[in-house]
Amino acid sequence: MNKQRQYVFFLGHSFALAKKEIICLLEQEKIGYQEFLATDKLFGIEVKKTLPVDEWQKRLGGTVKIGAVAAEFFKDEVLEKIQEYLIGVAEKSSESSAVRSPGQPIVGSIKSDKSNRGTKDGKFKFSLNSYGAIGSDKILALGLKIKKALQAKGKSVRLVTSKTDQLSTVAVVKEGLLKTGADLTITAVGSELYLIKTIAVQDFADYSFKDYARPSIDSKSGMLPPKLAKLLLNLVGLNKEHVFLDPFCGSGTVLQEALLLGAKEIIGSDISPVAIKDSKSNLAWLKENYQDLIWPKVTLLISSAQELTKHLAENSVDRIAFEGYLGPSITLNVKQAENVSLELKNLYNVVFKELAKILKTGGKGIAVLPIINKQPIFDLNAFKISGLVQIKLAANPRGSLIYAREGQRVEREIFLFTKV
Ligand SMILES: C[S@@+](CC[C@H](N)C(=O)[O-])C[C@H]1O[C@@H](n2cnc3c(N)ncnc32)[C@H](O)[C@@H]1O
Repeated sequence: MNKQRQYVFFLGHSFALAKKEIICLLEQEKIGYQEFLATDKLFGIEVKKTLPVDEWQKRLGGTVKIGAVAAEFFKDEVLEKIQEYLIGVAEKSSESSAVRSPGQPIVGSIKSDKSNRGTKDGKFKFSLNSYGAIGSDKILALGLKIKKALQAKGKSVRLVTSKTDQLSTVAVVKEGLLKTGADLTITAVGSELYLIKTIAVQDFADYSFKDYARPSIDSKSGMLPPKLAKLLLNLVGLNKEHVFLDPFCGSGTVLQEALLLGAKEIIGSDISPVAIKDSKSNLAWLKENYQDLIWPKVTLLISSAQELTKHLAENSVDRIAFEGYLGPSITLNVKQAENVSLELKNLYNVVFKELAKILKTGGKGIAVLPIINKQPIFDLNAFKISGLVQIKLAANPRGSLIYAREGQRVEREIFLFTKV
């Protein structure tokens, strides 16, 4: 198969969720694929058609960068062989850059010719990362060897190094490696080594802007990271034809990402008037700062999630996504944790019955619910009681995926469901 159609997705810290998101997108777009690489951090697929990688990188919340396979080697081949190959790749791209048409990007080119300089200092920059293939001491030595060999050929080269095995995406962009250099990764699959060239990276500046520059931030109830909000919407398959609901909208992170992805109509509700006010100001900020957005009908309403049918018609919503109430934001003792768990379990039993009424038949929902002190609070019977059907996200008995950061008291358990 054509090498250009072997893509490798570099997964963010919640590997399983990030991989599931890619699979959902492939299914939604009806793209057949074959998996050739699956580690915790990397997901490699072969596809018959060229993927619009920049668009996909923008769309995916859980993928940090996307690469294309540039070469394969056998593991027992000496490092020099890899080095030789890398020089070949770099030289080839140097030749192609020499005949490039105006406006064509000069990715991976070597510029010793001063008239054709792509970086301020005129050097070709590259980085070499390893995922489980070569130790960090050896990868640095290999990078330096390649640099020397290229210099011996009269090339002006800089090796961009990192203290860890992988260069950060921030550094990939800041060093201009996507446009005027090459960010390369070596990984192992069985007895073979794969060389992967980065072709797109996550827009970290935009995520950080959306996360921190919006006017209303609710640190007490907590805010979902925008990347996770986007990932949830991809898992639930939101598209431009859908009426969308977040019944615990808080300050509007999920609503914001739904607007950016596109929906026919967007509804946010929350029991707290302050949360609705925050959502309003955050969405106004979004409208002002993302002026290309096509703005659908947006409704924000104050309502408890147990009483939504007072405001919304039955069978009126195509997609639901929410991060529910996670319990008080204080450390709980064992007894308090038991009481809160019971309270939340009862809350969600009622909420899921209500959501089952509002959701259209064939509609889908995704819920982020708390695990407090390692104890999941959601009772799977809520699906049976409400008539909703769980779509298992994982092969574990609860069929859920977890989003957690080290040391967090409250972890997030994610459930996907549908109405049949
Ligand atoms: C964890 S926050 C959601 C945060 C939101 N995803 C965001 O990023 O801003 C949970 C929200 O649930 C709301 N809430 C709590 N109990 C509720 C209920 N019974 N019905 C509706 N909303 C409720 C709270 O006011 C809070 O805004």
